[in-house]
Amino acid sequence: MSNKNISHVSIIMDGNGRWATQRNMPRVHGHREGIKSINKIVSACSVRQISQLTLFAFSSENWKRPEYEVQFLLKLFEDSIIKYINDLHSNNVKIKFIGNLDIFGKKLLDSIRNAEKITMNNTGLKLNFALNYGGKWDIINAFNKILDDNNSSLQNKKINIDDFEKYLSLEGDSPDLLIRTAGEQRLSNFMLWQHAYTELYFTDCLWPDFDEKELDVAIQHYQNITRKYGSLTSENSIDKKNVK
Ligand code: FPP
Repeated sequence: MSNKNISHVSIIMDGNGRWATQRNMPRVHGHREGIKSINKIVSACSVRQISQLTLFAFSSENWKRPEYEVQFLLKLFEDSIIKYINDLHSNNVKIKFIGNLDIFGKKLLDSIRNAEKITMNNTGLKLNFALNYGGKWDIINAFNKILDDNNSSLQNKKINIDDFEKYLSLEGDSPDLLIRTAGEQRLSNFMLWQHAYTELYFTDCLWPDFDEKELDVAIQHYQNITRKYGSLTSENSIDKKNVK
């Protein structure tokens, strides 16, 4: 399959709980299965030469879940990072975590920083996990970073979009395609700025069932779209960098 126009894919991995409930299992079993889908999709993206994959793993609203489920997820993140870091590193994957991470305990934070450090010079797939992330937080956080940066040439100056984006998660880097599994059709506060012109693909498939074939269907959907960024011409004649 050709994927000439797709470089950055983002995914809202939804439906783990339903997947488990349908099988009369505790909801958390669905999260464990969800890790297997992450593994499949990370490999598939590398093979398809997609250069960046951003996964929404835990939103700033997910703290409202029952304490048991929240604690299970935090431990699952920690264990999975430790379990898979060597494989990811040997596959040249560069890992980054975005979100308000300071709130996490030392063990999880250490595994996050260690994964980023070990893989920082890798040149393959850029794999970003959004953890305790919210799109509104990201924008306010960028604004506060500018206010706090006394050395910035932006102090006492009117800033433009390019200036501002440098302070956002992923420096404002926009996904080409957002996939959301499990039927809901909304952004759920995921990279509100970065998804401004992203093509959206929704599928009823639950995240633990999402595999290479499902990814190819999503990519095919994307490739059938002519991206115009508000103009009347196709993307080939538009410089994506000029999309404001
Ligand atoms: C949504 O399903 C899924 C989540 C809130 C958690 C997703 C996280 C993972 C798959 C693990 C990520 C791993 C690392 C290493 C960061 P849901 O529980 O909302 O499902 P439901 O809508 O059916 O209830």
